[in-house]
Amino acid sequence: MNAVITGANRGIGRAMVEAFAEKGYGIWACARKKNDEFEADMSGLAEKFSVEVEPVYFDMSDEAQIKDGAKHILSAKRSIDVLINNAGVAHGGSFVSVSQDKLREIFQMNVFSQVLLTQLLVRAMIRQKSGCVINMCSAGGLDPQPGCLSYGASKATMIYITKVEAREFAPFNIRVNALAPGLIDTEMGHYKNDVEIQKTLNRMCIKHMGSVKDVADAALYIAGAEFMTGHILTLDGGHVIGG
Ligand SMILES: NC(=O)c1ccc[n+]([C@@H]2O[C@H](COP(=O)([O-])OP(=O)(O)OC[C@H]3O[C@@H](n4cnc5c(N)ncnc54)[C@H](OP(=O)(O)O)[C@@H]3O)[C@@H](O)[C@H]2O)c1
Repeated sequence: MNAVITGANRGIGRAMVEAFAEKGYGIWACARKKNDEFEADMSGLAEKFSVEVEPVYFDMSDEAQIKDGAKHILSAKRSIDVLINNAGVAHGGSFVSVSQDKLREIFQMNVFSQVLLTQLLVRAMIRQKSGCVINMCSAGGLDPQPGCLSYGASKATMIYITKVEAREFAPFNIRVNALAPGLIDTEMGHYKNDVEIQKTLNRMCIKHMGSVKDVADAALYIAGAEFMTGHILTLDGGHVIGG
Protein backbone atom coordinates (compact mmCIF):
# COMPACT_ATOMS: atom_id res chain seq x y z
CA MET A 1 0.00 0.00 0.00
CA ASN A 2 1.25 3.50 -0.83
CA ALA A 3 0.21 6.99 0.27
CA VAL A 4 0.85 10.48 -1.11
CA ILE A 5 0.95 13.08 1.67
CA THR A 6 1.36 16.81 1.03
CA GLY A 7 2.77 19.25 3.58
CA ALA A 8 4.86 16.33 4.85
CA ASN A 9 7.72 18.36 6.31
CA ARG A 10 6.02 19.63 9.46
CA GLY A 11 2.88 19.78 11.57
CA ILE A 12 0.05 17.38 10.83
CA GLY A 13 1.57 16.15 7.54
CA ARG A 14 4.81 15.05 9.24
CA ALA A 15 2.77 13.11 11.85
CA MET A 16 0.79 11.46 9.06
CA VAL A 17 3.97 10.30 7.31
CA GLU A 18 5.10 8.68 10.56
CA ALA A 19 1.71 7.07 11.29
CA PHE A 20 1.29 5.64 7.77
CA ALA A 21 4.92 4.46 7.60
CA GLU A 22 4.45 2.66 10.91
CA LYS A 23 1.50 0.79 9.36
CA GLY A 24 3.72 -0.32 6.46
CA TYR A 25 2.69 2.18 3.77
CA GLY A 26 5.24 3.30 1.19
CA ILE A 27 5.08 7.09 1.12
CA TRP A 28 5.60 9.94 -1.29
CA ALA A 29 6.30 12.71 1.20
CA CYS A 30 5.56 15.98 -0.61
CA ALA A 31 7.14 19.23 0.50
CA ARG A 32 7.58 22.64 -1.04
CA LYS A 33 11.39 22.82 -1.24
CA LYS A 34 14.35 20.44 -1.17
CA ASN A 35 15.80 20.42 2.30
CA ASP A 36 18.57 18.27 3.82
CA GLU A 37 17.01 18.13 7.26
CA PHE A 38 13.71 16.90 5.78
CA GLU A 39 15.53 14.30 3.65
CA ALA A 40 17.36 12.99 6.74
CA ASP A 41 14.11 12.90 8.72
CA MET A 42 12.33 10.95 5.97
CA SER A 43 15.20 8.45 5.59
CA GLY A 44 15.13 7.97 9.37
CA LEU A 45 11.43 7.04 9.19
CA ALA A 46 12.05 4.76 6.19
CA GLU A 47 14.75 2.91 8.09
CA LYS A 48 12.79 2.75 11.36
CA PHE A 49 9.71 1.20 9.76
CA SER A 50 11.41 -0.62 6.83
CA VAL A 51 9.31 1.14 4.18
CA GLU A 52 10.02 3.46 1.27
CA VAL A 53 9.60 7.15 2.09
CA GLU A 54 10.42 9.22 -0.97
CA PRO A 55 10.56 13.03 -0.74
CA VAL A 56 8.88 14.77 -3.68
CA TYR A 57 9.21 18.53 -4.06
CA PHE A 58 6.70 20.93 -5.54
CA ASP A 59 5.23 24.28 -4.59
CA MET A 60 1.48 23.90 -4.33
CA SER A 61 0.94 27.48 -5.44
CA ASP A 62 2.56 26.72 -8.81
CA GLU A 63 0.47 24.73 -11.29
CA ALA A 64 3.46 23.64 -13.40
CA GLN A 65 5.30 22.34 -10.34
CA ILE A 66 2.22 20.38 -9.18
CA LYS A 67 2.00 18.77 -12.64
CA ASP A 68 5.70 17.83 -12.53
CA GLY A 69 5.34 16.41 -9.01
CA ALA A 70 2.33 14.32 -10.02
CA LYS A 71 4.12 13.13 -13.16
CA HIS A 72 7.04 11.98 -11.03
CA ILE A 73 4.74 10.08 -8.65
CA LEU A 74 2.80 8.46 -11.51
CA SER A 75 6.02 7.45 -13.28
CA ALA A 76 6.85 5.08 -10.42
CA LYS A 77 3.95 2.88 -11.63
CA ARG A 78 3.17 1.79 -8.08
CA SER A 79 -0.37 1.80 -6.72
CA ILE A 80 -1.56 5.04 -5.14
CA ASP A 81 -3.85 3.79 -2.39
CA VAL A 82 -4.23 6.94 -0.31
CA LEU A 83 -3.91 10.63 -1.23
CA ILE A 84 -3.91 13.09 1.66
CA ASN A 85 -4.38 16.70 0.54
CA ASN A 86 -2.93 18.14 3.72
CA ALA A 87 -0.79 21.18 2.84
CA GLY A 88 -2.64 24.40 3.56
CA VAL A 89 -2.29 28.01 4.65
CA ALA A 90 -4.14 30.06 7.23
CA HIS A 91 -5.29 33.64 6.86
CA GLY A 92 -7.38 35.99 8.98
CA GLY A 93 -8.72 39.49 8.49
CA SER A 94 -11.98 41.37 8.65
CA PHE A 95 -14.28 40.97 5.65
CA VAL A 96 -13.74 44.50 4.35
CA SER A 97 -9.95 44.29 4.67
CA VAL A 98 -9.33 41.12 2.63
CA SER A 99 -7.98 42.02 -0.80
CA GLN A 100 -8.95 40.18 -3.96
CA ASP A 101 -5.31 39.15 -4.38
CA LYS A 102 -5.20 37.59 -0.92
CA LEU A 103 -8.50 35.80 -1.48
CA ARG A 104 -7.17 34.41 -4.76
CA GLU A 105 -3.90 33.35 -3.09
CA ILE A 106 -5.70 31.45 -0.30
CA PHE A 107 -8.10 29.77 -2.71
CA GLN A 108 -5.21 28.95 -5.06
CA MET A 109 -3.46 27.07 -2.26
CA ASN A 110 -6.33 25.62 -0.21
CA VAL A 111 -8.71 24.79 -3.07
CA PHE A 112 -7.41 24.95 -6.65
CA SER A 113 -4.10 23.19 -5.98
CA GLN A 114 -5.88 20.43 -4.02
CA VAL A 115 -8.33 19.90 -6.89
CA LEU A 116 -5.54 19.82 -9.48
CA LEU A 117 -3.42 17.31 -7.58
CA THR A 118 -6.46 15.07 -7.07
CA GLN A 119 -7.43 15.31 -10.76
CA LEU A 120 -3.92 14.23 -11.74
CA LEU A 121 -3.45 11.39 -9.24
CA VAL A 122 -6.97 9.99 -9.23
CA ARG A 123 -6.31 8.73 -12.75
CA ALA A 124 -4.10 6.03 -11.25
CA MET A 125 -6.81 5.18 -8.72
CA ILE A 126 -9.42 4.96 -11.50
CA ARG A 127 -7.14 2.59 -13.42
CA GLN A 128 -6.53 0.40 -10.39
CA LYS A 129 -10.23 0.64 -9.39
CA SER A 130 -9.48 1.48 -5.78
CA GLY A 131 -8.28 4.36 -3.68
CA CYS A 132 -8.95 6.71 -0.82
CA VAL A 133 -8.67 10.50 -0.84
CA ILE A 134 -8.58 12.48 2.39
CA ASN A 135 -9.03 16.27 2.19
CA MET A 136 -7.85 18.34 5.12
CA CYS A 137 -10.70 20.71 5.80
CA SER A 138 -11.34 22.49 9.09
CA ALA A 139 -13.93 23.02 11.79
CA GLY A 140 -13.64 26.62 10.57
CA GLY A 141 -15.30 25.54 7.31
CA LEU A 142 -18.35 24.36 9.28
CA ASP A 143 -18.65 27.18 11.82
CA PRO A 144 -18.34 30.60 10.18
CA GLN A 145 -16.59 33.10 12.42
CA PRO A 146 -15.87 36.82 11.92
CA GLY A 147 -12.41 37.40 10.48
CA CYS A 148 -12.28 34.02 8.73
CA LEU A 149 -13.51 34.90 5.23
CA SER A 150 -10.68 33.52 3.10
CA TYR A 151 -9.59 30.52 5.18
CA GLY A 152 -13.08 29.51 6.33
CA ALA A 153 -14.59 29.85 2.85
CA SER A 154 -11.73 27.87 1.29
CA LYS A 155 -12.26 25.01 3.77
CA ALA A 156 -16.07 25.14 3.35
CA THR A 157 -15.47 24.85 -0.40
CA MET A 158 -13.28 21.78 0.17
CA ILE A 159 -16.11 20.22 2.20
CA TYR A 160 -18.43 20.63 -0.80
CA ILE A 161 -15.74 19.36 -3.17
CA THR A 162 -15.19 16.30 -0.96
CA LYS A 163 -18.85 15.37 -1.34
CA VAL A 164 -18.81 15.87 -5.12
CA GLU A 165 -15.63 13.79 -5.44
CA ALA A 166 -17.18 11.04 -3.28
CA ARG A 167 -20.15 10.78 -5.63
CA GLU A 168 -18.14 10.98 -8.87
CA PHE A 169 -15.45 8.51 -7.81
CA ALA A 170 -17.63 5.92 -6.04
CA PRO A 171 -18.20 3.90 -9.26
CA PHE A 172 -14.42 3.35 -9.38
CA ASN A 173 -14.28 2.11 -5.78
CA ILE A 174 -12.56 5.31 -4.67
CA ARG A 175 -13.65 6.76 -1.34
CA VAL A 176 -13.29 10.46 -0.55
CA ASN A 177 -13.62 11.86 2.96
CA ALA A 178 -12.53 14.96 4.81
CA LEU A 179 -11.03 15.63 8.18
CA ALA A 180 -12.22 18.80 9.87
CA PRO A 181 -9.92 19.45 12.82
CA GLY A 182 -10.42 22.17 15.35
CA LEU A 183 -7.43 23.68 17.15
CA ILE A 184 -4.39 21.46 16.68
CA ASP A 185 -1.04 22.15 18.29
CA THR A 186 1.05 23.14 15.26
CA GLU A 187 2.42 26.39 13.90
CA MET A 188 -0.94 26.96 12.21
CA GLY A 189 -2.79 26.17 15.45
CA HIS A 190 -0.92 29.09 17.00
CA TYR A 191 -1.69 31.42 14.08
CA LYS A 192 -4.31 33.26 16.16
CA ASN A 193 -3.28 35.38 19.16
CA ASP A 194 -3.69 34.03 22.70
CA VAL A 195 -7.00 35.82 23.27
CA GLU A 196 -8.51 34.31 20.11
CA ILE A 197 -7.15 30.88 21.00
CA GLN A 198 -8.74 31.13 24.45
CA LYS A 199 -12.09 32.12 22.87
CA THR A 200 -11.93 29.01 20.71
CA LEU A 201 -10.99 26.82 23.70
CA ASN A 202 -14.02 28.25 25.55
CA ARG A 203 -16.28 26.96 22.76
CA MET A 204 -14.86 23.43 23.09
CA CYS A 205 -15.93 20.63 25.48
CA ILE A 206 -12.31 19.44 25.76
CA LYS A 207 -10.39 22.50 26.84
CA HIS A 208 -7.06 21.93 25.14
CA MET A 209 -5.60 21.78 21.64
CA GLY A 210 -5.55 18.46 19.82
CA SER A 211 -2.25 16.83 18.92
CA VAL A 212 -0.89 16.02 15.47
CA LYS A 213 -1.12 12.33 16.46
CA ASP A 214 -4.88 12.73 17.09
CA VAL A 215 -5.27 13.86 13.46
CA ALA A 216 -2.88 11.27 12.00
CA ASP A 217 -4.73 8.47 13.83
CA ALA A 218 -8.03 9.72 12.40
CA ALA A 219 -6.54 9.69 8.88
CA LEU A 220 -5.43 6.09 9.41
CA TYR A 221 -8.94 5.23 10.55
CA ILE A 222 -10.43 6.77 7.38
CA ALA A 223 -7.91 4.93 5.20
CA GLY A 224 -9.22 1.63 6.60
CA ALA A 225 -12.93 2.53 6.85
CA GLU A 226 -14.18 0.69 3.75
CA PHE A 227 -17.83 1.75 4.12
CA MET A 228 -17.14 5.44 4.69
CA THR A 229 -17.31 7.98 1.88
CA GLY A 230 -18.46 11.58 1.50
CA HIS A 231 -18.02 11.99 5.25
CA ILE A 232 -16.64 15.01 7.09
CA LEU A 233 -15.00 13.74 10.26
CA THR A 234 -14.74 16.53 12.82
CA LEU A 235 -11.96 16.30 15.35
CA ASP A 236 -12.41 19.40 17.36
CA GLY A 237 -12.67 18.60 21.08
CA GLY A 238 -16.44 18.96 20.90
CA HIS A 239 -16.48 22.47 19.41
CA VAL A 240 -19.97 23.90 19.99
CA ILE A 241 -21.09 25.54 16.74
CA GLY A 242 -22.24 29.10 17.35
CA GLY A 243 -21.17 28.72 21.01
N1 LIG B 1 -3.43 23.26 13.06
C1 LIG B 1 -4.73 23.48 13.10
O1 LIG B 1 -5.26 23.98 14.12
C2 LIG B 1 -5.61 23.08 11.93
C3 LIG B 1 -7.00 23.10 12.14
C4 LIG B 1 -7.83 22.75 11.08
C5 LIG B 1 -7.30 22.38 9.86
N2 LIG B 1 -5.96 22.37 9.69
C6 LIG B 1 -5.47 21.99 8.35
O2 LIG B 1 -4.54 20.93 8.44
C7 LIG B 1 -3.57 21.04 7.39
C8 LIG B 1 -2.16 21.00 8.00
O3 LIG B 1 -2.06 22.05 8.94
P1 LIG B 1 -0.86 22.19 9.99
O4 LIG B 1 -1.47 22.61 11.26
O5 LIG B 1 0.03 21.00 9.94
O6 LIG B 1 -0.15 23.47 9.36
P2 LIG B 1 1.38 23.93 9.36
O7 LIG B 1 2.08 23.38 10.55
O8 LIG B 1 1.32 25.40 9.15
O9 LIG B 1 1.95 23.19 8.05
C9 LIG B 1 1.46 23.56 6.78
C10 LIG B 1 2.09 22.66 5.75
O10 LIG B 1 1.61 23.06 4.47
C11 LIG B 1 2.75 23.28 3.63
N3 LIG B 1 2.53 24.31 2.61
C12 LIG B 1 2.03 25.55 2.78
N4 LIG B 1 2.08 26.23 1.62
C13 LIG B 1 2.65 25.40 0.69
C14 LIG B 1 2.96 25.51 -0.68
N5 LIG B 1 2.73 26.63 -1.38
N6 LIG B 1 3.51 24.42 -1.31
C15 LIG B 1 3.75 23.28 -0.62
N7 LIG B 1 3.48 23.11 0.68
C16 LIG B 1 2.93 24.16 1.33
C17 LIG B 1 3.83 23.77 4.59
O11 LIG B 1 5.09 23.71 3.96
P3 LIG B 1 6.27 24.81 4.32
O12 LIG B 1 6.95 24.29 5.55
O13 LIG B 1 7.11 24.82 3.12
O14 LIG B 1 5.55 26.12 4.56
C18 LIG B 1 3.62 22.79 5.73
O15 LIG B 1 4.20 21.55 5.43
C19 LIG B 1 -3.87 22.37 6.66
O16 LIG B 1 -4.61 22.11 5.49
C20 LIG B 1 -4.72 23.13 7.66
O17 LIG B 1 -5.58 24.06 7.05
C21 LIG B 1 -5.09 22.71 10.69
